[in-house]
Amino acid sequence: MSDDIVLVIGANGQLGSVLIKELQNIHGISKVIASDVYLDSNFEGVFELLDATDIDSVHSIVKKHSITQIYHLAAILSAKGEQQPLKTWDLNMKMTLNVFEVARISTVNKVFFPSSIAVYGNKAPLQKSPQSAFLNPATVYGISKAAGENWAQYYFTNYDLDIRSIRYPGVIGYQSMPGGGTTDYAVDIYHSAVKKQTYNCFLNADTKLPMIFMEDAIRATIELMQVPKAKIKTRTSYNLGSMSFSPSELYEAIKKEHPGFEIEYQPDFRQGIADKWPKSIDDNEARNDWDWKPKFNLKSMTSVMLEKLEEKYNTTKLKE
Ligand SMILES: NC(=O)c1ccc[n+]([C@@H]2O[C@H](COP(=O)([O-])OP(=O)(O)OC[C@H]3O[C@@H](n4cnc5c(N)ncnc54)[C@H](O)[C@@H]3O)[C@@H](O)[C@H]2O)c1
Repeated sequence: MSDDIVLVIGANGQLGSVLIKELQNIHGISKVIASDVYLDSNFEGVFELLDATDIDSVHSIVKKHSITQIYHLAAILSAKGEQQPLKTWDLNMKMTLNVFEVARISTVNKVFFPSSIAVYGNKAPLQKSPQSAFLNPATVYGISKAAGENWAQYYFTNYDLDIRSIRYPGVIGYQSMPGGGTTDYAVDIYHSAVKKQTYNCFLNADTKLPMIFMEDAIRATIELMQVPKAKIKTRTSYNLGSMSFSPSELYEAIKKEHPGFEIEYQPDFRQGIADKWPKSIDDNEARNDWDWKPKFNLKSMTSVMLEKLEEKYNTTKLKE
């Protein structure tokens, strides 16, 4: 066990609720402080109510627990963000800068800041999008993540603050529900399949997007945070590749195990967001600098997702 005391901000979310358990295993339950704007009644461990838009509250929790690492996960995501663009910009930037600034003036020596494939726009090659492409994000969420990446680099360059970052693709897991992103369909669809409901997809059948299984996303996060500082060459954010597929390809993969499963397509405003995002990601920097390698593909992920959700809903497969 390490001497680190870790604060997770946005701990109740899709990623946070899974990451917390992994961090508790690594650091010990008493050394991981979960925080969010509300308390999840099922949570086990140390929890602090925290609104990360208030810098004094962030600072006082850091001081109270002598925090040495922060995982800053709180954000308003891509699809939700488009409903209230100015509020999203305000919240996302305020929280990110509060965390960086408190880390600079406190005992914190390492910060994790998640970015997203949403930083890309139509001026980047959308096939195998390179790490250092021109970024012209089309959503306020993407703009806030691109700005956050540049602030991360600024704090590293000017204050030697060790901020590490990954541009996550859409994250798919059975443990938690997604929080308002454009790739949410790829989680929701598994729940519909297992509940024997027709899935109504908000993206077109052929909209390919980069995705990653939760287990790989969490492992990448931990691996990046554990690698020696000298190995980290990218101080904005690392591209992270895993798999890419369209709703119809995901549907076909599920149908192999649930032959009776049906899907309908009713694209909404999220189609416009997805159309401007990468179809696949070039993650050579992550592979070279800290040995990133995904373990799951569409087939192996689908098999675990269905098995775990079947356990959860206690159902049997739909037979034709
Ligand atoms: N889930 C994905 O597919 C994905 C993809 C790319 C990037 N990311 C990034 O990873 C991070 C985690 O994503 P997620 O899917 O778990 O998000 P989520 O929406 O599920 O969770 C975010 C959490 O932040 C909390 N929060 C909101 N405002 C807060 C505030 N003022 N103070 C403290 N907490 C607050 C929310 O209550 C929520 O529990 C985000 O920064 C997101 O942009 C996620």
